[in-house]
Order: sequence, then C-alpha cells, then structure tokens
Amino acid sequence: MKKIILTGDRPTGNLHIGHYVGSIVNRLKLQNTEFDKFYIMIADTQALTDNAGNVDKVKNNIIQVAIDYLSAGINPEKVNIFIQSQVPELAEMTMYFMNLVTVARLGRNPTVKDEIKQRSFSNSIPVGFFCYPISQASDILAFGTNLVPVGEDQLPMIEQTREIARSFNNTYGKEIFAMPEPLLPENNICRRLCGLDGGLKMSKSAGNCIYLKDDEKTVKEKIMSAYTDPNHIRVTDPGKVEGNVVFSYLDAFATDESFKKHLPEYKNLDELKAHYRKGGLGDVKIKLFLNNVLQEILTPIREKRKELEKNIDAIYEMLFENGKKARKVAQNTLQKMKEAMGIDYAKFLKK
Ligand code: TRP
Repeated sequence: MKKIILTGDRPTGNLHIGHYVGSIVNRLKLQNTEFDKFYIMIADTQALTDNAGNVDKVKNNIIQVAIDYLSAGINPEKVNIFIQSQVPELAEMTMYFMNLVTVARLGRNPTVKDEIKQRSFSNSIPVGFFCYPISQASDILAFGTNLVPVGEDQLPMIEQTREIARSFNNTYGKEIFAMPEPLLPENNICRRLCGLDGGLKMSKSAGNCIYLKDDEKTVKEKIMSAYTDPNHIRVTDPGKVEGNVVFSYLDAFATDESFKKHLPEYKNLDELKAHYRKGGLGDVKIKLFLNNVLQEILTPIREKRKELEKNIDAIYEMLFENGKKARKVAQNTLQKMKEAMGIDYAKFLKK
C-alpha cells in the first residue's frame, strides 16, 4: 500500500511550542522515512470559517506559518507545502460530502463543540464553521491520505473523515477512498501541551503560548512567569509536579542529555521531580533549566527564520508551484468521485 501523509494548520497566527511537540516533531521524523507523498496544507479556507471579517489576519499568516515550517526544519524538497484555497476542487468535494453527513452528527463532533463554546457563538454559528469537519475530510481524502500526524484535538476530525469515506464508498459502491489513520506523538504530554498559565491547552486565543519566533528575552520572560505550584512558597516547601507547567514542559522537552548539559547535579527528570516533591528546590532553578532546554531548540529555528525572511518571494513561489501539483491530484480524485456517482457528464459528449 502507498504511504501518503497529509496534515495542516490554520494560518491564524504563528506556530507555538505546542504545535512543535504536538505535530511538527512527528513531521520531521516522518520526512526522513520512506513515503510516497507528504503534504502539509496551510488551511486558509478553514481559517476563514470563523474569520470572515478578518481576511487580512488569515492572509498575512499564510507566509508566517510557511516560515515557521521551514525554519523548524520541514524540507520543501521532500514535503509539498501548499495553500488550501489554491485547490478549489476541495470545495467541490465538500459539496458532495455534505450530503452524506447529518446536522446532528456535526453537532456531536467534540472539537467543534469545544470551539463553539470558546468562541461564544451561541446562536450565531457560521454555517461554514459548523461544516468545517466535512471540508477537512476533503483535505484528507483528496490526496488518498492514509496517515495524518496531528495533536489529540484533531482525532474527532479524522474519525469523521473515516465515516465520510466509508459512507461515500458504500453509497456509490466503489472503494474510492482509503481509511486515514492519525499519528499522535508517543509522549502523552505532547499530545496536548498545556498553556503557560496552566490552561488545558496552549492556544493563541488564550494568550498562553511560547511561539517559535519569540526572541530569546521573550521566551525567558514567559518561562519565568509560568504557572507552577501556588502552594510552593518557600524553597523548603514541598512542591507539586502535577499541573505544574514547568514540569509539564520538561516532560515534553528535556532529555537525559539536557541534564548532562545544563543541570548535571541531577541524572534525569525523575530525580528532579523527587527533589521538588520533597522540598528544597526552588522554582527559579527549574525555570532557568527549562529556559536553557527550550533556547537550545529555539535558537537554530530563530536563526533559520532570519535567513528565510530575506527571500519571501521564493517562499511564495514554492507555495504556488506546490499548489499546482496538489491541484492535479485533487482533480483526479474528484473525477473518480464523479464517475462513482455517475455525474461525470463529459462522457455524454464523447460519442
Ligand atoms: N484543523 C486543523 C487545525 O485546526 C487544520 C487542518 C485543516 C488539518 N485541514 C487539515 C489538519 C487536514 C490535518 C489534516 O489545526
């Protein structure tokens, strides 16, 4: 079986370290494996579903997200990075898929439910937003994707995509679509990284992020202000590791190597946690360690960004060329869909 990988992000802001451990690290690993095709979509159409009046934000962040990918090490020689709206066939596919999904089923999608709450839409949910899981199914199915590297919040989207694929195959009696599988980070803590304030999820809207593009000083300031254990007042007090943002991030980012390099008095994270629990270990010390660990990852990304920013035109060119290639693949899938449905009317002209 072919291995076709696809994933994407909405261009509503720069990518942060939650994206990094939640999905980018897996993409970096995957790009060094054997595969047939690997696409990363900058999902501008999806971003517009709740930003109709905010087109500039979406438009300006397309290039930002592209720079985030490239500076984090995504290799454009291996991976097709493209802009969703440059493949209009996705919208047409969505029209046909919409007929296979009920309003009730969409309303049960847990990610959509959460997002509706977050955005306090109440009774004014844009139809496009409500339907975006269907459009995301098109994103995935148009390319014959069987592997989708994502964070945990995207699992309901992939589940719904599988239902749509199955329903299409059953309704039209042809096995057009493969069943896509999600690929989650191995380390549980990376599947949904908490925010700096201890919030359940790092997210732009909550303002609790460390961005890949943040400068050294900003990263340090953010870490120094991170939520720890409010009852750990004096250094000698015993501290809690659970729900402590600094320890969550260390779980996600620190390796035994990091200890050797930046905190050799401890062998590993277990030792550090044990000391914190017992008392006698101050927050400043663990925060400075986390800062060293993160700066080591972020410094090369920041430097690469500076280089990339010198030639924005080249990045747009790359995106447009890739969009054309992606479009051909989607056109082919759409044609197969129409044949399966019996609406490939061009056949009437041929005789
Ligand atoms: N919903 C994803 C997000 O919010 C973005 C996305 C759009 C996506 N299309 C996709 C992810 C297809 C994986 C596959 O970040």
